[in-house]
Amino acid sequence: MDTLLVIGSGGREHALAWKLAQSPDVGRIFVAPGNGGTAAEARCENVAIDPLDFTSLTAFARREAIALAVVGPETPLAAGIIDAFAGAGIPAFGPPAAAARLEGSKAFARAFMARHGIPSPAYRVFGATEDALAFLQTAAFDVVVKASGLAAGKGVVVPESRLEAEEAVVAIMRQRQFGAAGDEVVIEERLQGQEVSVLAFVDGRRWALMPLAQDHKQVFDGDRGPNTGGMGVYAPAPLLSPEETAVVEESVLRPVVEGMAAAGTPYRGVLYTGLMLTAGGPKVLEFNCRFGDPETEVLLPLLDGDLYAILQACVAGRLHAEELRWSPQAAACIIAAAPGYPGDYPKNLPIRGAAAAEALPGLKVFHAGTALAPDGSLRTSGGRVLAVTAVGVDKQQALDRAYAGIGMIDFPGMHYRRDIGSRT
Ligand code: AMP
Ligand code: GLY
Repeated sequence: MDTLLVIGSGGREHALAWKLAQSPDVGRIFVAPGNGGTAAEARCENVAIDPLDFTSLTAFARREAIALAVVGPETPLAAGIIDAFAGAGIPAFGPPAAAARLEGSKAFARAFMARHGIPSPAYRVFGATEDALAFLQTAAFDVVVKASGLAAGKGVVVPESRLEAEEAVVAIMRQRQFGAAGDEVVIEERLQGQEVSVLAFVDGRRWALMPLAQDHKQVFDGDRGPNTGGMGVYAPAPLLSPEETAVVEESVLRPVVEGMAAAGTPYRGVLYTGLMLTAGGPKVLEFNCRFGDPETEVLLPLLDGDLYAILQACVAGRLHAEELRWSPQAAACIIAAAPGYPGDYPKNLPIRGAAAAEALPGLKVFHAGTALAPDGSLRTSGGRVLAVTAVGVDKQQALDRAYAGIGMIDFPGMHYRRDIGSRT
């Protein structure tokens, strides 16, 4: 029986640990640092190591004879965690730093897309505040302003006016709101349409698509308010026909996988493409170099089969898409958020009902920002607190079950969207 190490502390990592624990070859799973949900999950144990402390992580992995390290978040991937594990001789799932640039540098990603003819919005990259501001005076399109580097999902501004666009440039570049992530800004054409998350397992040469998922980024019902990490999601999302999906595979997935291999930086891991379905066809909003959160919480419950075997196949370069099986059911996930999120929020609020909700049919409560207090009680420790997830025969049943579950859960100031899944 193998021992695994999952790195990260969110709902995505709880879902990864939960699914990996179902593999017949997995005995034990350490989660670094994990949360209140992974602490209580069967076969799982939290270990208090920071995801950016590569020295401690590799030493721990050697000591425990870890058979596979599975990395959730983008920050350690962009910082080279896969390279560090490779140097220590430990198999690890995710792209090395050179390939993770597809997420870590939006300027790199846009240049790569342009080179490979991948459908994208018009864009410009600026390294100087004055040049970016001058461009805004003459831009022939509505714009989106992005810090090029990683900014914890907060580096994208969709401005309502030219003044707001200028303010965003100044905040990112001159006031360094996101530090070095704002050394460059990408200013791009604002696209209109429905968004869809397209996740694929990739083994360096081949890929296997997961069902399409639709996230809901804005904090309030009706897609109002500021962007968050994601307030709810469902899958499969009926947004592309099989024919349209095949076109996306050929026009986006193939050039990425083949282009990265040709550049000597083969892509292994999960490639997450954020697509906007515009009147002119699907266009790429962004690439992420990892599983999505909360997309993972709905996709893994629909995977019929052994996640550990799939991740090993990706690492070994022997992925066979035709061997992946997905349930014909649907899944939905509603995020219970802390008061004030995505702005400042209090922590350590007592949570009631999370365990009781799991008695409902098809329901699983993945923990995102929770911790177990010394007295064993469950407390909030983050902005997105719980990812209340349900599987059902169809989308409506999955949504009804997830909403019944979240209705049993309570903490002071808890808020959630009531309209997940209602765009389609
Ligand atoms: P990203 O972190 O790049 O996914 O951007 C966050 C969100 O900003 C996306 O999910 C979209 O809702 C929005 N966004 C990003 N780029 C564009 C664009 N070019 N046009 C319109 N909306 C965008
Ligand atoms: N759900 C959005 C993300 O994972 O980036």
